[in-house]
Amino acid sequence: MTDLSSDLEALRASARDRLAAATTTDAVEALRHDLLGRSGELTALLRRLGSVAADERPSLGRLANDVRHEIESAITARLESMRDVDLDRRLVDEALDMSAPGRPVRIGHLHPVMTLMRDLREIFHAFGFEVFEGPEIETDEYNFELLNIPPDHPARDLWDTLYVAEPGSVEAGQPRPAADGTILRTHTSPVQVRAMRALDLPIRVITPGRCFRYEAVDASHGFEFQQIEGLVIDRDTSLADLKGMLEEIARALYGRDTKTRFRPGYYPFTEPSVAFDVACLVCGGAGCAACGRTGWMTILGAGMVHPEVIRSGGFDPDEVQGYAFGLGPDRMTMLRHGIGDIRLFFSADLRFVSQFAEGR
Ligand code: DAH
Repeated sequence: MTDLSSDLEALRASARDRLAAATTTDAVEALRHDLLGRSGELTALLRRLGSVAADERPSLGRLANDVRHEIESAITARLESMRDVDLDRRLVDEALDMSAPGRPVRIGHLHPVMTLMRDLREIFHAFGFEVFEGPEIETDEYNFELLNIPPDHPARDLWDTLYVAEPGSVEAGQPRPAADGTILRTHTSPVQVRAMRALDLPIRVITPGRCFRYEAVDASHGFEFQQIEGLVIDRDTSLADLKGMLEEIARALYGRDTKTRFRPGYYPFTEPSVAFDVACLVCGGAGCAACGRTGWMTILGAGMVHPEVIRSGGFDPDEVQGYAFGLGPDRMTMLRHGIGDIRLFFSADLRFVSQFAEGR
């Protein structure tokens, strides 16, 4: 009954043809079941092995194994090649164009005021200043009293304050300032006393941060703006140190040829007090709308720290002294780029801010 041998060969040949004709993975899997399954065609042939003469059995067994392996690897190869075809077909179905260029990711950039503040921070760092931060929600005590501005002092009129309301008073229709004196800081100067109370001599810090005032908003006033406070406290500092440093900073920021001037000023927490002006960069000093026709723009207030403030900070004004200054980064950015209206900074208009994309 060596017919079994030719039947096995016939199965081998037929498997090859039927596999070639199968065009889907489902058809190949069905074929695997028909050929190799427990009640499949190969199994049926193997059952006949028992009735074959004993001396023919080993060679027929080998042949059967051979056929099985060939069919198995042919099925594997067929499925493998179909996977690629399937993928191609799916890509066409889904209209996925792998060769299309990617969409560019839009990356944001710093606001021009932030760029200027970072530049200033680096310049101050070169002068040995560290950053010391303070809270935006302050107390009346730090914002005014400890800075030599007692309640009802007329100097308070310089800072139109936004008060935090006493809980419940707004709902009751009668808003009044919180009894604990909580306010939004009107300047970064309260950090002067916080820094003196926290640090040892020599003190050399800057405080960048947001401030708030109850202002009528116009081209040069916002109700929310940035300041950078500077404070130096030591045993041997002078107004000359302050002047020299501020002149260097103006040149580092606006260029070597920048013209500057000091004017006498008034602040309750410095004595003497000065205002520091830069020759208007928009008109070059001739006088224009941006500088109020004066040819100068004030970029900061400064002075020698008042003895009362040094005392508030816990030091003896007979032993130490120092200087302080407060810069206006919004104003300085307007000057840097010739921007005529401070409201543009908050306009959320991408046509405005994207002009400063190269600024890091
Ligand atoms: N805090 C002042 C303001 O907002 C600015 C200022 C003036 C800060 C003089 C100072 C200073 O440190 O010495 O108007």
